[in-house]
Amino acid sequence: MHSWLKKSCDFLGLGEDAFRRVPVGADFAVDVPAMAQMIAEDRAAGLNPFCIVGTVGTVQTGASDDVNALADLAAREKLWLHIDGAFGAMAKLAQHPQAAAAVRGMDRADSIAFDLHKWGYLPFDIAMLITREDRHLTETFANQAPYLTGMAGGINASGSIYFNDRGIELTRSFRALKVWMTLRAQGSELLGAHIGRNIAQAQYLGGLVAREAELELLAPVPLNLVNYRFRAPGLDTDALNALNRNILVRLQEDGIAVPSGTVIRGQFAIRVRNRNFNRGGPSIRGAYGAQADLASAAWRAAAGLRSPAGRVRAAGASVQMGGAHPAGTDRTRRWDSRARRAAPRGHGASGGSASGERRGVGGRA
Ligand SMILES: Cc1ncc(COP(=O)(O)O)c(C=O)c1O
Repeated sequence: MHSWLKKSCDFLGLGEDAFRRVPVGADFAVDVPAMAQMIAEDRAAGLNPFCIVGTVGTVQTGASDDVNALADLAAREKLWLHIDGAFGAMAKLAQHPQAAAAVRGMDRADSIAFDLHKWGYLPFDIAMLITREDRHLTETFANQAPYLTGMAGGINASGSIYFNDRGIELTRSFRALKVWMTLRAQGSELLGAHIGRNIAQAQYLGGLVAREAELELLAPVPLNLVNYRFRAPGLDTDALNALNRNILVRLQEDGIAVPSGTVIRGQFAIRVRNRNFNRGGPSIRGAYGAQADLASAAWRAAAGLRSPAGRVRAAGASVQMGGAHPAGTDRTRRWDSRARRAAPRGHGASGGSASGERRGVGGRA
């Protein structure tokens, strides 16, 4: 579950304690029987549970909850079901079996939120909130004022949709324009094709990682997220975490690629979230084989290593590396020039997690 939920409980005046985190299973999906048990316990303790929040495409691993099971539970317990589909809801557009599995049951939610600045490939900021009934928004947000009331005609003709009655903002920018233009220019089918290809590319990268003895996949790859780390015999969890943090910094500062990092069950992961629509055509290897190269290049670079035998000891010794190169040094500047070189003509280096091109990687290796 993304941290926004805890924050929202605070904003709503409920306090962070009103949020109850439900355990997840081996597949990182919410344990629905455990959730049912927690609801019963809360009721027995005199509390008043009112909302279940499930996720389609979690921030860390891309896992999705069993939304049908959550919808059954919500119906049984008379609770609101909200789905955080910030990333994953857009998978609905893809003709891809894993995408279909991820979004199954999503249409049973009372509300769904998702970001088009994520898998809609649009520039920040544009998000969507869909509720089952319009009144769910107007009953919550409508506020009357003499300068906001409808008129018989003109620009404030009654019957118009007042967006300020449907959300927190009064004055708002015309965000919808870029959605409309994208759908007109590209269409939802093309968006779906990009999304399906991103999933296939992530699976491909996951396969490359799984085949490489020195890499370890830290979570399944249900959508477009790949979490992996370098591993080496003889290093304990702390040393591996420190080493992989340094590899991540090196990947970023050397301009090879911009994965992010996270911690999965205590293990630091290099986290590649692929939403790059520039990597067209059948050449998944061209685009994402680079990830294997970059990982290989990165840990060699991180540890100054050549031979597999020497790798482990030197890798352990490289743990201080990140701190030795503060932002603004040559290393940072190298990123700028490499990023520019790596960017395909007419496109900036993508905000996606895997923006290093083969050329850029090749230059490094
Ligand atoms: C599942 C999920 N929920 C919420 C968010 C937060 O999105 P935003 O930063 O657009 O509010 C993210 C961001 O990655 C996410 O992956």
